[in-house]
Amino acid sequence: MLIDALRLRNFRNLRRVDVKPHPRFNILTGANGQGKTNLIEAIYLLGAAKSFRSRATNRNLVHFDEKKALLEARIHRGGHERGVRIEISPSGKQIFLNEQSVRNLTDFFGTLNIVVFGPADIGILKGSPSGRRQFIDRAIFNAHPAYATESKHYDDVLANRNSLLKEPPVDADLLSVYDDQFVQWGAKILERRLDFLRHFRPVMRRVFQAVFSEDLEAALEYDATWLPGRIDEERALEQPHHLQQLLAESLQNSAREERERGYTVVGPHRDDLKATLDGHDVRAFASQGQTRAFVLAMKIAEIAYLEERYHFAPILLLDDVSSELDRQRNEQLFSFLRDRAQGQVFITTTHRDHILLDEDLASFRVEGGSIAPDAST
Ligand SMILES: Nc1ncnc2c1ncn2[C@@H]1O[C@H](COP(=O)(O)OP(=O)(O)O)[C@@H](O)[C@H]1O
Ligand SMILES: [Mg+2]
Repeated sequence: MLIDALRLRNFRNLRRVDVKPHPRFNILTGANGQGKTNLIEAIYLLGAAKSFRSRATNRNLVHFDEKKALLEARIHRGGHERGVRIEISPSGKQIFLNEQSVRNLTDFFGTLNIVVFGPADIGILKGSPSGRRQFIDRAIFNAHPAYATESKHYDDVLANRNSLLKEPPVDADLLSVYDDQFVQWGAKILERRLDFLRHFRPVMRRVFQAVFSEDLEAALEYDATWLPGRIDEERALEQPHHLQQLLAESLQNSAREERERGYTVVGPHRDDLKATLDGHDVRAFASQGQTRAFVLAMKIAEIAYLEERYHFAPILLLDDVSSELDRQRNEQLFSFLRDRAQGQVFITTTHRDHILLDEDLASFRVEGGSIAPDAST
């Protein structure tokens, strides 16, 4: 899968971008504030139909002085060409696939699979659980576009349930309707996440040892914070009903607490991933170097997992990460990237010499919202 043409108009500070990316490595160099992350954001948007920046309103995505932004990419995948176009105005986004307006996002998802890694991801193990849920949810979404709809169903019923609980007296009949939906979609989310982890874990363990030559066993455990013990994963994946049962029971047991608090206190929206090395919590005992290696291994393993289990190479966006990594980790990252048989990569940096690549690449300069081939390299 690769992008062989990219065109942007009035996307944030990128007024006019016309690039023909290299099928392998694209290095974008520029000082701070020039538009590097904006470019990464535009490419991400072309795949996910939304930004990875949490406060990106449609208004903010369009250049301050304009009413409309345009993002266009030609995508090459399995011998087919596809054209994606996204038009953004303050009132919404319109998506076109091969010039046809897309009504149902599920038809569109999967056109462009993207893995993004930026400075904010480096703190993912130290930060709040939401960052770790986002990691697992994006990874699942790449392989199963339907997961976006499933998550939406869950978020909707959760929001409905919460607004009901917020204003007592609670209509018991309505609550029981929501409970059924909550259990159904919540179990689906759990099942997807557990299934992902089961297949992801061995890849992760291998990547950590191979790429970072560390003799420690890296693992990721699912932490259902609303359950007293662990979920029996074997059982959950063999009998999907088991998860529905767990959720239904937990809802019952928490009925009193949630009435007191006025919101739903159990469910996958509260869950977390626990990172361990040789069984020890990474947060508590790993060095900063090991923590960063772990995070990097999570991203590399995400790519390897998609390649091995689903046989496609996602496009990788690396936004300014080399400056966050020490020399050794940076070398390990690039040796993984060079050894990969295929896969298009977009890399932004403030310093070209952080990027340890010298062939199979195109270089660009990002300056004041313009992107031009870099003549100096
Ligand atoms: N809607 C917008 N219209 C015009 N400029 C914008 C808009 N949104 C952000 N910017 C500008 O984009 C620049 C930041 O770009 P960014 O890609 O984050 O920089 P960097 O190269 O450091 O990654 C800032 O100067 C910001 O003011
Ligand atoms: Mg940036």
